[in-house]
Amino acid sequence: MSEPQLSVRDLTVRFPTTRGVVQALNGVNFDLEKGQMLGIVGESGSGKSVTAKTLMNLLPRTAEIEGDVIFEGRDVRKLAADGTQHFWGVEMTMVFQDPMTSLNPVKKCGEQIAETLRYHLGRTKKEAIEEAVDLLGQVGLPEPAKRVDQYPHELSGGLRQRVVIAMALACQPSLLIADEPTTAVDVTVQRHILNLLDRLREERGMSMILITHDLGVARGRCDDIAVMYAGRIVERSATETLFSDSRHPYTDALLRSIPRIDQPSHTRLEPIPGRPPELINPPVRCAYSPRCRFAQPDCLSAIPDVHGVRGMHEFACFHPANTDRGREALAANVAAGKTAAGLPIAGYAGGGG
Ligand SMILES: Nc1ncnc2c1ncn2[C@@H]1O[C@H](COP(=O)(O)OP(=O)(O)OP(=O)(O)O)[C@@H](O)[C@H]1O
Ligand SMILES: [Mg+2]
Repeated sequence: MSEPQLSVRDLTVRFPTTRGVVQALNGVNFDLEKGQMLGIVGESGSGKSVTAKTLMNLLPRTAEIEGDVIFEGRDVRKLAADGTQHFWGVEMTMVFQDPMTSLNPVKKCGEQIAETLRYHLGRTKKEAIEEAVDLLGQVGLPEPAKRVDQYPHELSGGLRQRVVIAMALACQPSLLIADEPTTAVDVTVQRHILNLLDRLREERGMSMILITHDLGVARGRCDDIAVMYAGRIVERSATETLFSDSRHPYTDALLRSIPRIDQPSHTRLEPIPGRPPELINPPVRCAYSPRCRFAQPDCLSAIPDVHGVRGMHEFACFHPANTDRGREALAANVAAGKTAAGLPIAGYAGGGG
């Protein structure tokens, strides 16, 4: 296999706060191949945005970062330390959840894109505006020549997000990170924007990281999916494998909590009981164990390492779903009426595969 385009190794991020040190990332590892679309999914607070912001050099100065980020053979954290600014916004760009975080409310849309082109690529004012019109057309803005002279507040949320995407694409990045790019818009607009990103990625041969809390959004678009929990990637595999043969009980629970096309339309969805864990002074145990239907005594005294084949199907669990070990654990818990962590599971209908 050739070198991956992006390689993240043992990435750890801590935030010292007045309440204590927040362990936001605890050894995140993943690779991204050129042209690939990777989905990162997980509940609120699992570390999705911190991962993206670390790549983009957007964390506050107080953040304590360890680990390596290698992008096309270059050490990204070293570029950050050396003050190299030309990299972000050019080769690697990001689209945020709320378009207004990226747009200047008192500047015309066209000018904002043109500014990026002039600053990073040295275009003249005239060239930059022409290119801005062209980019707005590419992202599907109707009447782009007119839109360049409009202010962000004159556009709908969906059109604003398209302007942000045009801005992110202006310098022909080879990696685009989209962090919940569609949470601020309604479902139809969401589909249009995701289709647009997908098309642009294909046309431009770009790689993409799509961050979402919705596994349904990642399905059908992402080649691979990484599932995050409490600052770790707890499972990663090809998308279809994740949906048909998941290993981590958290992934299993996520899958049960979303509607699936291969299920009858009235299949009951099961919310995941409990809340994500505290990230300050976390105990040494599997972070998911208090909520896990498979939890056994060993899950409460050690943190499971990632098993499986790197780059194929990886997961961090002692009693994985859809395996004999997992089925035995679940059967024992069902018989006892509760898990080793004390979670009552009487009446649980799921078989874990
Ligand atoms: N600047 C900061 N200072 C302290 N803690 C932070 C900071 N930024 C993030 N965190 C904490 O790091 C953890 C991970 O946050 P992150 O924003 O990555 O979550 P997320 O997975 O993106 O969630 P969401 O789905 O809500 O966007 C959270 O517990 C968050 O409170
Ligand atoms: Mg986030």
